[in-house]
Amino acid sequence: MHPMLNIAVRAARRAGTIITQHLSNPSAVETMQKGQNDFVTNVDKQAEAAIIEIIKKSYPDHTIIGEESGQIAGNDNTVQWVIDPLDGTTNFVKGFPHFAVSIAARQNGRTEIAVVFDPIRNELFTAVRGQGAQLNGYRLRMKDVKSIEGTILATGFPFKYKQFSANFIGMLNALFVECADFRRTGSAALDLAYVAANRVDGYFEIGLKPWDFMAGELIVKEAGGIVTDFVGDNNYLESGNLVAGNGKVVRGILNKIREHLTPSLSK
Ligand code: IPD
Ligand code: CA
Ligand code: CA
Ligand code: CA
Repeated sequence: MHPMLNIAVRAARRAGTIITQHLSNPSAVETMQKGQNDFVTNVDKQAEAAIIEIIKKSYPDHTIIGEESGQIAGNDNTVQWVIDPLDGTTNFVKGFPHFAVSIAARQNGRTEIAVVFDPIRNELFTAVRGQGAQLNGYRLRMKDVKSIEGTILATGFPFKYKQFSANFIGMLNALFVECADFRRTGSAALDLAYVAANRVDGYFEIGLKPWDFMAGELIVKEAGGIVTDFVGDNNYLESGNLVAGNGKVVRGILNKIREHLTPSLSK
């Protein structure tokens, strides 16, 4: 196994144990408000600290960017770990059992390894650049879905960006004419992993952060899919606006959302 993948898997499993232990002990969970409709708990922070400790032990020089800690600069700034210790905090706080740990490592601006771990189902999604994506050791290959007709699409509501709610509802409405149905699962990392696993056919969301999608992006690509921004380019690292699926599904989504874009969503 790629040595960095090995460390990422160990860190994700450790964080997963911390999260599931607290799920069955809700009185030990302290929830704090980060912003409007946006929460963080002591468990997010504990899980992130555990991940950072494991990475730092093997790679003391690497730079780490964590959702809760920000950037922890290392001497070697060619390698960067991007971690989301608990993707799906709102689900976790509600006891809705669907969330994940997301860990990606990038070298010279390119994601090399990715892990998305669902501790409830013990599902480990991994990818190594150029070597494919796997779920619990089994190779993931995306199906050749021909169009968005009849598809199941995952999305996330822009709960932190309600100024886009009319645009978003317009996009949903336009897509709903052709797709079969939507899923809003509450974990962007798992949405992307589920695209790779053919559990949903496509995905789009407004305003993600790098830690939400960095691992899932490589897993989709290594399973044969593509990831673009809302106009088919790859500026999603800056904009956080993401579309994922096979090429035909992504094209279908882009065609439908086009008429609901504003200049700030057109990237
Ligand atoms: C959130 C989840 C959610 C998505 C949000 C993310 P968090 O991450 O991925 O599904 O809709 O945009 O912020 O805050 O739970 O790590
Ligand atoms: Ca968060
Ligand atoms: Ca997240
Ligand atoms: Ca998070």
